[in-house]
Amino acid sequence: MNRSSAESAEQRVRELREEIAEHNHRYYVLNDPSVPDAEYDRLMRELESLERSHPELVDPDSPTQRVGARAAEGFETVEHEVPMLSLANAFDDDEVREFDRRIRETLDIETVVYTAEPKLDGLAISLRYKSGRLVRAATRGDGRAGEDVTANVRTIRAIPLRLRVEDAPDTLEVRGEIYMTRSGFAELNRGLEGEGGKTFVNPRNAAAGSLRQLDPTITAGRPLRFFAYSAIVDAESAVAGLGDGQQAALARLAELGFPVSSMARRARGLEALLAFYREVQEARADLDFDIDGVVYKVDDFDQQRELGYVSRSPRWALAHKFPAEEEVTRLERIDVQVGRTGKLTPVARLEPVFVGGVTVTNATLHNLDEIRRKDVRVGDYVIVRRAGDVIPEVVRPIVEKRTESLPEWELPTHCPVCGSHVELVEGQADARCSGGLVCPAQRKRALEHFAARNAMDIDGLGTRIIDQLVDNERVGDPADLYRLDAETLAGLERMGEKSAANLVSAIDASRRVSLARLLFALGIREVGEVSAGALARHFRDLDALMDADVESLEAIRDVGPVVARHIREFFDEERNREVIASLLENGGEWHVEQAPEAGEQPLKGNTYVLTGSLENLTRSEAKARLERLGARVTGSVSKNTTAVIAGSDPGSKLDKAEALGVDVLDEAGLEALLSSSGD
Ligand code: IVH
Repeated sequence: MNRSSAESAEQRVRELREEIAEHNHRYYVLNDPSVPDAEYDRLMRELESLERSHPELVDPDSPTQRVGARAAEGFETVEHEVPMLSLANAFDDDEVREFDRRIRETLDIETVVYTAEPKLDGLAISLRYKSGRLVRAATRGDGRAGEDVTANVRTIRAIPLRLRVEDAPDTLEVRGEIYMTRSGFAELNRGLEGEGGKTFVNPRNAAAGSLRQLDPTITAGRPLRFFAYSAIVDAESAVAGLGDGQQAALARLAELGFPVSSMARRARGLEALLAFYREVQEARADLDFDIDGVVYKVDDFDQQRELGYVSRSPRWALAHKFPAEEEVTRLERIDVQVGRTGKLTPVARLEPVFVGGVTVTNATLHNLDEIRRKDVRVGDYVIVRRAGDVIPEVVRPIVEKRTESLPEWELPTHCPVCGSHVELVEGQADARCSGGLVCPAQRKRALEHFAARNAMDIDGLGTRIIDQLVDNERVGDPADLYRLDAETLAGLERMGEKSAANLVSAIDASRRVSLARLLFALGIREVGEVSAGALARHFRDLDALMDADVESLEAIRDVGPVVARHIREFFDEERNREVIASLLENGGEWHVEQAPEAGEQPLKGNTYVLTGSLENLTRSEAKARLERLGARVTGSVSKNTTAVIAGSDPGSKLDKAEALGVDVLDEAGLEALLSSSGD
């Protein structure tokens, strides 16, 4: 090989390494990828091939060398030069107030400037850099000594192997949290399950398990991420790091090439801390990673030094915890519920437990397979999880607490409501009641769905009334609702004349309805709000849709082959056609508002942000309805936001909207927007 080709290879290798490092930085640190994955892979392959043909150019910090080491026998214990401490916890506002008061008193100042950050639910890590290169990574361990996991940490692409700037301190220790994204966790578990392997309980366990693999090639395949939250330059002084305060340190860490949380911010005084807590709590469910609270830190390093430490934690910092999303309680019984399509769902009846901010007594167990897979048995102590406004679920039993031998749970062979036999669909986890048209449970749930707010929106027609109407055989299908009179309704339990009259007018008012809502209300299997909207826009009237063949249904976006088949089967069923005909003919008043022009999405191009709580609908309902009309719903306000929809107790998103001059709608404004857009 001649000299110039060796030189140009060296040149190209350098360029590729820089370019790849830049792409990594944009992807993991700035959250702003600049090239598609395929382009990134192409650059990596080119670099690998050059390094293969020029072995003299291989460098341990090349992006191709992240998985360098072979599988280890075990991890070495390494001591932390500066102990890794823990944080004092607060569980309510009063404890935060007390923390702020003590600091003001000690420092003898009026208002404290803090940095407020999310508290990431992963595992703490210490990263040591020497002359700009990552030389050691250690877990927290007991705080004094942890395990050397350098080979594994090197595989995490969010962690720079080399610092990005020339003038970095010669020795630098960066601390932060290694975590796994929720989406990465779900994908990992799906993969493990597919291979018949053991799955992880939550992203934190998955992150810890992945980091403690003896073989770094396994760690390399796991979706681990990192956020930096502190730096130590001078081991002697123990506090301190880069710059003169926490804000400055975070900014400097970002310059050095580390991901830092974009949610971290300066907060002046107690009220700002509490506002931050509420804002992060509100954003929590929408994040792609778990957080278990927020952390408040006195910003100024001199003030931190003055405050010092008490036992194992700094006096200048506090973790303000969110209500736990997981708790342990006892499984008392498993009941089976019958859904509107006959699907049987086992429901766990639990000893009441406070979790995710509410008292939970029921949790879903999904299906029989899930019960078997998790090996949940009546009498077990179980971990219950409730995150955001999602339905609580049983995560797993604590098998070690099982004192007696408990029998496995068996699926009933007959529907607990109508006694029809239970069908198990080959290859599917679901069991169904076969009593389609006769099963009162299915009818009740179908009517509930029909009357729901996001369907026909019949105010006052709730579970209790529907149950009575079906049990008394007053109502069998949705069309029967429109034959009810006030007298019949007034005869129901706990129903006065006034509410009966109100209900009749609510039923009456629902005769004017958009095609999208009617389609959704019919409860065709797997036709949700979004696909109902797509069908209505495409066909524009019900007759055309009822006669459509599977091919033309499949051609619509948002409608896959399975949904297309369900739609066809639904309209092929003579009983269903009769109910629809009777719905449309009833009283001659029925009015299905035409859907907007085909393909037209009235709110397309608009972006909304929801904040605070709405009275008449949940945030996820509001989101689904806006999206059905083509709008985007995002979690953070920017100048591109069309409007912020603010319910009661809005967070700082409202302030931000006002600061940016973004429109603000209240709940009535939202209703008006939806109905004027054809919802
Ligand atoms: S600061 C002196 N900031 O919480 C303590 N810790 O109990 C310095 N954690 O194990 C820690 N997010 O891993 C700090 N933004 C954050 C954090 C955070 C999560 C973890 C940390 C530590 C535990 C403290």
